[in-house]
Amino acid sequence: MSERISIPAQGRDKDTILDELSKLHLKDISWKAGRAWSMVYYVDDAHQELLTEAYSSFFSENYLNPFAFQSLKKMELEVIQMTANLLNGDENVTGTMTSGGTESIFLAVYTYRERARKVFPHITEPEIVTSDSIHPAFEKAAHILNIKVKKAPIDAEMRAQPQELSKLITRNTILIAASAPTYPHGALDPIVEIADLALQKKVPFHVDCCIGGFLLPWVEKLGYPVDLFDFRVPGVTSISADAHKFGYGAKGASVLLYRNMNYLKHQFYIATDWPGGIYASPTLMGSRPGGAIAATWSAMQALGQDGYLQITQEIMQATQEIKKALSEIPEISILGTPVMNIITYTTRGNQPDIFVVADQLEQKGWMLDRQQLPNSIHLTVMRQNIPVIDTYIEDLKASILFAKNNPGETAKGNAALYGLMARIPFRGMVEQNVRKIFEDLYDFSKTSLVEEAETSSTLPEPPLWMGLLNRFLLWWGRFGNKKLKS
Ligand SMILES: Cc1ncc(COP(=O)(O)O)c(C=O)c1O
Repeated sequence: MSERISIPAQGRDKDTILDELSKLHLKDISWKAGRAWSMVYYVDDAHQELLTEAYSSFFSENYLNPFAFQSLKKMELEVIQMTANLLNGDENVTGTMTSGGTESIFLAVYTYRERARKVFPHITEPEIVTSDSIHPAFEKAAHILNIKVKKAPIDAEMRAQPQELSKLITRNTILIAASAPTYPHGALDPIVEIADLALQKKVPFHVDCCIGGFLLPWVEKLGYPVDLFDFRVPGVTSISADAHKFGYGAKGASVLLYRNMNYLKHQFYIATDWPGGIYASPTLMGSRPGGAIAATWSAMQALGQDGYLQITQEIMQATQEIKKALSEIPEISILGTPVMNIITYTTRGNQPDIFVVADQLEQKGWMLDRQQLPNSIHLTVMRQNIPVIDTYIEDLKASILFAKNNPGETAKGNAALYGLMARIPFRGMVEQNVRKIFEDLYDFSKTSLVEEAETSSTLPEPPLWMGLLNRFLLWWGRFGNKKLKS
């Protein structure tokens, strides 16, 4: 068993600690060099400095109580109004800032459940109707809040299908949810049609604009085709938009907006009988970091509409270049019709295996999001990716060539693992295996966990039975099926 790590007996000096921090950074993906295609929403060093200073100046302030810090109250209310304006809300639109997309979605689900309890008490088994491509944060929220999620299939363009959603609506439906756009494919769900359905069935409708809320308005202003997705659409009752994504604020900031107070009021939680006093809380978190609010407010002040437009123009132009380059590679096909800077591609007929291609790209120093159903690679084009687009495309072509020349590679490395996860039809087994990976990660009774974490960037080997099942499924796909058919 490895030695347990304790708080150092004597405090260490600042320089040693900062030095260690910068060494720890060396093992991370070099996102600033454009090697990651997700997670870090970056403008430039000057903007980063502003965020850091703004965050630091409200580093200690706690927004637990909106009345204790007038400064943070003012900034939160202004961020809410700026976002509501951007998403074409009228003066009745209101909301709160939260810590991120997942909290915004959690609160929206909670709010509609609380509303249903008050307004429709006959609903004892509440349901949400949505599509397969919706972000898992909805299912997570519903799981915690004991709500059933009913998901309809998406179409060939990777978009929600209103007629399929309609089939799932019952008298227990408390909410319809759709995305603008979806994370997996950057597809814009048909918000107008779904909102019509919502109005017709008298059900609230949440649009998840977590990734698109601070980008799509500028994409639209730049003249790219974008169907209506925001408060201009009657029937849309709430929208989540993450300021820590394309709002270019600091991490820990999202905005959750409702059409009016009649919805938002169900979000507030008030405990009246606590010995610690009356405890009132507008969002999920108790203590709320003042820094995230100050940094988001400052980001909006610093970039201004012209700044957001300029950055969006750059990344949309880069997106068109990548799309064009991908369309010229005969083996590649792009999934759906992405509406902004998300591109998801696969290989035609999965030849060569897209996960082998992904492994090769990873060996060349790229960090990738692998997706399933179908197996594919996901890119969000960020500003820091722009200078390395040509290198990426060259590396992709080389990786495809390698995969074509080495068909046996499927059985190795991450390609095998991800291929296996995507292929196994029993999803309960996949869940069990992933659960085990987490259990192992946090199980400190195992040997050398810390050292392992320091050296390993790949996922652990799957259990033997999964490998055997995988081989069987591969064999079945290649030969068993054919034998049966012939
Ligand atoms: C469409 C969508 N919704 C929700 C989320 C969840 O946001 P967060 O990771 O900030 O919790 C994401 C994150 O990428 C997203 O793309």
